[in-house]
Amino acid sequence: MAKPVRLGIAKIRAPGWRRIADMSQLAVKPRSSTSRLQTHVARLEQEHPPLDVASVDFTVRRPRKVIERYGRVLDYMARTELEVERNVRELDVLMPDPPELDQYFYRHVWGPQELQHGLILDRLQAELGLPLSAPNVSTIPLKLRVLGGIAHVAAVQDVVRMLYYLTGMTTERSAVLAYQHLHEGLVAMGEDAIADTAVAPIRRQEPGHYAYYQMSARQLWARLSPWQQWLTRRLRSISFAPVGANSSQELRQVGDMMLAFDIRERAEIDEFARTVARSETELLWAQEAGLGAPSYVADAFARCLELARTQPPLHEPCFHGRVALLDAEDA
Ligand SMILES: [Fe+2]
Ligand SMILES: [Fe+2]
Repeated sequence: MAKPVRLGIAKIRAPGWRRIADMSQLAVKPRSSTSRLQTHVARLEQEHPPLDVASVDFTVRRPRKVIERYGRVLDYMARTELEVERNVRELDVLMPDPPELDQYFYRHVWGPQELQHGLILDRLQAELGLPLSAPNVSTIPLKLRVLGGIAHVAAVQDVVRMLYYLTGMTTERSAVLAYQHLHEGLVAMGEDAIADTAVAPIRRQEPGHYAYYQMSARQLWARLSPWQQWLTRRLRSISFAPVGANSSQELRQVGDMMLAFDIRERAEIDEFARTVARSETELLWAQEAGLGAPSYVADAFARCLELARTQPPLHEPCFHGRVALLDAEDA
């Protein structure tokens, strides 16, 4: 058996923004549901400060095996976490006049937490000898720019905000599932150090994000008029995409992740989609009793899997530098 090794120091990126306000500066009306959200955000901020890369033990026992199984997963997850910087810009475009609490949440609580998730995963990639992620932190997809354009119409702004909460729910639920799979897989491989000091702390921060979007979505959905609800369903049906997947290569990465987590058959895809979209199904499609998951969600994940099976990846997981020497006896 190879000796546990601690690999070299890698380059990390500096956080992209600083705190410029605190909760006490928010002039949010004290409605009960809003107060509950405010309390939730305050608790998230207090109990879940952004993780420190230095707190992670990057000891990897068998780098080659980790790369083989999870190299592409790490690439996808690190990229999507690091793209939070662009996501914050997108939200500024999407919501010309966002509620103060939303803005506080995504700028000062959610954003800094997600950025650290990305930095930790990126550092893990570097420690494994893999290339750093190449996140898109600046180019806002066309569909979001179009939505941002129509969001200047006041009545549509609430619809766009609803789409933000729906996207947040499926994104965070996907993250919870992904980190759960990754943690279990790494523990099963005997990689307790990174499972317990990197993946588990990240996984603990995701449910709080999900809860924020879920509470916000329920609150707003109840206030939308029938035509706003109709428009939300329509726009969501034509615009849904898994997180961080705006091109066929990125969709393929999602499929790679599903394969790594043993999601292969249609029934497994449907179950994954059902779990990811549970709250969305309950809210938007309550009238369609018995609907497992909206077809646009299940079909999108099925497409990702098909691409992963049929399209070549941009690059294969590589074994170079120290990794190839350190765990050669495991090969
Ligand atoms: Fe995250
Ligand atoms: Fe999150």
